[in-house]
Amino acid sequence: MAALDLDRTVTDRLLLRTVPGAVDYLVEDLRALGSQAQARVEQRWRDGLLVDFTGSLSRLAAIRFFSSCSVWLEPDVMAALTRSRDGGLLGAVAADHEPVTFRVADVGDRRWPLRDELQAGLGWVNAPTDWAVNVDDYRGHLVLDVGELFFTARFGRLERVPASTTPVVAAVLARLTKAGPDDVVLDPFCGAGTNLVQVAQMSAPARLMGSDLDLGALAKARANLAARGIEAGLWQADAARLPGAPHSVDRIVANLPFGKRAGSHAANVELYPAFLRRVRSVLRPSGRAVLLTEEKRLLRDAVQRTADLSVIKEVELESGGLHPSAYVVVNRPRGRARRGGS
Ligand SMILES: C[S@@+](CC[C@H](N)C(=O)[O-])C[C@H]1O[C@@H](n2cnc3c(N)ncnc32)[C@H](O)[C@@H]1O
Repeated sequence: MAALDLDRTVTDRLLLRTVPGAVDYLVEDLRALGSQAQARVEQRWRDGLLVDFTGSLSRLAAIRFFSSCSVWLEPDVMAALTRSRDGGLLGAVAADHEPVTFRVADVGDRRWPLRDELQAGLGWVNAPTDWAVNVDDYRGHLVLDVGELFFTARFGRLERVPASTTPVVAAVLARLTKAGPDDVVLDPFCGAGTNLVQVAQMSAPARLMGSDLDLGALAKARANLAARGIEAGLWQADAARLPGAPHSVDRIVANLPFGKRAGSHAANVELYPAFLRRVRSVLRPSGRAVLLTEEKRLLRDAVQRTADLSVIKEVELESGGLHPSAYVVVNRPRGRARRGGS
């Protein structure tokens, strides 16, 4: 596969696909690009942004809130490809002057004529299993996905457990966690460690800890963290009996069992209240917990029934066909003045 030249400065119209619920964070990071890049949002969908981008490709690639990046091929495919090759993203894909390897996904009647046109007109090589770029359909529009800008190509592949968090969702949880450099951060349902990786890379807290009931999941977390040189303490523990000294943790981030791919609703009815009592105990006053679940009523009820805990924010997300919310829960022991903000 052709290597992408991330050192390039490009000007192009790009589609950034993301997860519903993450678009605001993507816009936030695009606005914060600074002097090396500018992105003007042309159109916004619940799972994507069309942007006119000018700037350093490496700055764009470092943003965690999009899962893929594509050249916008409308209204004229060949004109868009020519423009993109001469100063846009495609120029960075084809920088090594090797023929571009491509595939055309099932985009309807245009699939095979397009394949032939790209081969004959541009000299591209059709490589359905080893492509650098992929012509795809996004909401009825043709786009060209760049393989080297998929999340896993930018940040590395992660070992997963069946209910692993999508990395973009984990990035949203990490952003909501607001961990600082002095903080102790714990994921008590760490699974393969997706959240721990994102928190470490986005916030570099002083100490990271993870626990899970499942030893197999902990082994994957260990591998994912070690592959990135991230240090974290990992333990086998039941979150309902979470060990930890009172007020010893600044931030908790977790993807709870939703009772679908992990656990069951009946188990969650017991687990959630017991876990939240442990959150109240180990979390420092003024600390925050960011908890992702589809068991929304159960989570809210359990928080309400736990003295001192309250939900201050809910972010609705979508992940793998499910519709969980991230709840930001704070620990404010009675008598402490309430502070606003989220
Ligand atoms: C939704 S998954 C978390 C996935 C994780 N964030 C990741 O990306 O891999 C829920 C995890 O909770 C663990 N789990 C289920 N019940 C538990 C309990 N009572 N205490 C601790 N961990 C538990 C499961 O083993 C599973 O790894």
